[in-house]
Amino acid sequence: MSNEITGDPAGAPLRGLNEWEEDVVRRYPDPDLKHKSREEFRNYAEPPRATVREFYRINHTEQTFDFVQARKKQFLTLDRRKMSTWDAMEYLDTLVDDSDPDTDLSQLQHLLQTAEAIRADGHPDWFVLTGLLHDLGKVLCLFGEPQWAVVGDTFPVGCAYSDKIVYPEYFQNNPDSRNPLYQTRLGIYEEGCGLDKVHLSWGHDEYIYQVVKDYLPEEGLYMLRYHSFYPGHREGAYDYLMNDHDREMFEWVRKFNPYDLYSKNPVAPDRVALRPYYEELIARYLPAELCL
Ligand SMILES: [Fe+2]
Ligand SMILES: [Fe+2]
Repeated sequence: MSNEITGDPAGAPLRGLNEWEEDVVRRYPDPDLKHKSREEFRNYAEPPRATVREFYRINHTEQTFDFVQARKKQFLTLDRRKMSTWDAMEYLDTLVDDSDPDTDLSQLQHLLQTAEAIRADGHPDWFVLTGLLHDLGKVLCLFGEPQWAVVGDTFPVGCAYSDKIVYPEYFQNNPDSRNPLYQTRLGIYEEGCGLDKVHLSWGHDEYIYQVVKDYLPEEGLYMLRYHSFYPGHREGAYDYLMNDHDREMFEWVRKFNPYDLYSKNPVAPDRVALRPYYEELIARYLPAELCL
């Protein structure tokens, strides 16, 4: 599968955005994996690709506190495009990963498979809708943003880096690592201040959260906003920045995570057959057009 629109064709270390998520699955394998074939296990047990390492080298070097503020100012005006949710999903689908053509799913297929897996488990409809929307923020790539400013595990900026973040050694290249204000345990934050006051590295989570924050229940908004915050929801890092409400809501972020990581299936969902169900669900929660 090949497509000219891959986000940052000039200097993109990843073959496509899916490569980051494949690496997350490698780091956090499906607990049911032992029931799967030896070959599948071997794939996940493989060491990370050089491309993933290079991706994090750039991500950890460039995602400074000032960079995050600048991107928020630039993109949270939400005045680039108005589109219906389904059209935005189809627009995102023009972003095609360049990896293995046999197993690679498009972005729309990943959204549908995540939502369908949540629906099959009988969860509330807002949870299904959250699954459908969770990666829509990747449209940032179609606005010309490089991969390292769209995907990757997120982490707080403005305070010391946790060694629970993947490839922490690359933070030594980040100018913030030489700013004493940002390199104490709390940095610019207060103990237990709550994650809403904490700036995470910029990417598709915060962006889609801001796009739909007025329309979904808070549990779903936490899933959108923090699903890539693996140091927090999988590694337990930065608990001292969280308040009790964050801890309660993170149960939902953890409930969502397996649907994101382990619902991938080579059989493409039938988007035509599924569309009426999802259009009706979208219409119940969201305005006719999203402001991107
Ligand atoms: Fe995501
Ligand atoms: Fe995802």
